[in-house]
Amino acid sequence: MTTKLFINGEWTSATGGSIATLNPATEEILDDVGFASTVDVDAAVDAARAAFNSTAWRDLLPVARARLLFRLADLIEAHADELAELETRDQGQPLGVSRTISVAGAAEHFRYYAGWVTKIEGRTSPISFPDTHHYTRREPIGVCALITPWNFPLMILAWKLAPALATGNTVVIKPAEQTPLTAIRLVELAAEAGFPAGVVNLVTGDGSTGQALVDHPHVDKVSFTGSTAVGRSIVAGSAASNLKKITLELGGKAPSIITADADIDAAVGGNLAGGMLNSGQVCAAYTRFYVNKKREAEFVEKMAAGVSGMKLGAGMDPATQLGPLVSQRHLDHVERMVTVGRAEGAELVTGGSRSGDVGYFFQPTVFAGVRDDMAIATDEVFGPVLSIMSYDDDDDLQDLINRANDTDYGLAATVWTKDLEKAHRLANGIRAGAIFVNMPPVPDMAAPWGGFKTSGWGNEMGPYSIDAYTQVKGVWMHYGN
Ligand code: TAP
Repeated sequence: MTTKLFINGEWTSATGGSIATLNPATEEILDDVGFASTVDVDAAVDAARAAFNSTAWRDLLPVARARLLFRLADLIEAHADELAELETRDQGQPLGVSRTISVAGAAEHFRYYAGWVTKIEGRTSPISFPDTHHYTRREPIGVCALITPWNFPLMILAWKLAPALATGNTVVIKPAEQTPLTAIRLVELAAEAGFPAGVVNLVTGDGSTGQALVDHPHVDKVSFTGSTAVGRSIVAGSAASNLKKITLELGGKAPSIITADADIDAAVGGNLAGGMLNSGQVCAAYTRFYVNKKREAEFVEKMAAGVSGMKLGAGMDPATQLGPLVSQRHLDHVERMVTVGRAEGAELVTGGSRSGDVGYFFQPTVFAGVRDDMAIATDEVFGPVLSIMSYDDDDDLQDLINRANDTDYGLAATVWTKDLEKAHRLANGIRAGAIFVNMPPVPDMAAPWGGFKTSGWGNEMGPYSIDAYTQVKGVWMHYGN
């Protein structure tokens, strides 16, 4: 029972009651976590505000702040097995994924941004005023609300928490209601690492808890990863309150282009990895495939054989390659999308149904003969469902680019070709934040991650996150008479 919230360095009972979190492989209740009311959210924001103004945090030397982040990275590694199992039980992802991507990725993120703490610099500005020196400082924004989704709960929290702390902000974390457990454990480890009271706060609850943070006049920034619909409501909420700074990482519908000269076996391997990781519950997942007609039959056959050979099961089983979907609600959504795909006339090559009647398992699914206007080609499924289309001519790349760009999303895209000219032309023409040529979609803390169009605002990772969690101050210093 974890019905407590972490506010001002203490575990505090939630005044809004509790909310259960389930194991999606068994449908059993794993834990009851606190449900933060607006009173609790106010207390968490007040604590974060007080910590932001405290000398214990504000005056901490960069080298000491870096040490806290390094220590937290070490603690994550020291508790790697425990965190990986917790993530797998709560979220469903196979243990191999939670170990090598979620936990290892989180630890490396803290280490990477620990390194940044002592390298955040200002500039001198060549102003045209006599006897005046001008320099800039990068200062923390203040109280940051970090609102995270359920697909990679620990890793995506690390993407936000590490740079927010590295740059001297204080935070209130709001994890997704389906998957709060690794965030709770991470906050315990942050306290153990020695972050001063109030610097890291956590409120669990549901969307209303997130909304209370968005509406709060003393929250200075919201960093949000989740659906485009909630992203829009955050923009509106911020505009109606205190014009918070906002970073948004939203939905995606990544196109994958396989040209006539592509190495089909490599394309099949990479697209299976890119489409099926975490059962397709990945914002950058490869979901709509444009294959040159000459290679279509071969690609469809090999993709279908590939997904059919994947082992579906509980994430705790080391042989599992595909875990369950996160919730009954999400399973219903994926089933609905597949039903619509069939009704619209796509050819179901393999999969297409729920697997078993306990746990939210869905068979890996391949559709062929998909048209650009079908819902499975335009809407986010966020599940193990691949939609294969074809194109006629490698010489008309502009038509292909237009089809790939015919979407409101623009997070990721991939191109499979041996032809360098085609790779460059497609990479330049497709409007997405990350283009992967001949490889699956991998995030790396040194490379920007962010969406074009309705896939988001701003970037995370690399120096981009330093910019996202700081604001520039200019200092004018007149030294003449
Ligand atoms: P959402 O329903 O948008 O939820 C994301 C977070 O926002 C959760 O913590 C949620 O709380 C909270 N929330 C819900 N309503 C809110 C409101 N009105 N104000 C403030 N916060 C609110 O997304 P999801 O279903 O968890 O995640 C799936 C979506 O996230 C997909 O569209 C996917 O593409 C996107 N995603 C994007 C990325 C990147 S990097 N672009 C990465 C992962 C996922 P509750 O869960 O408690 O309701």
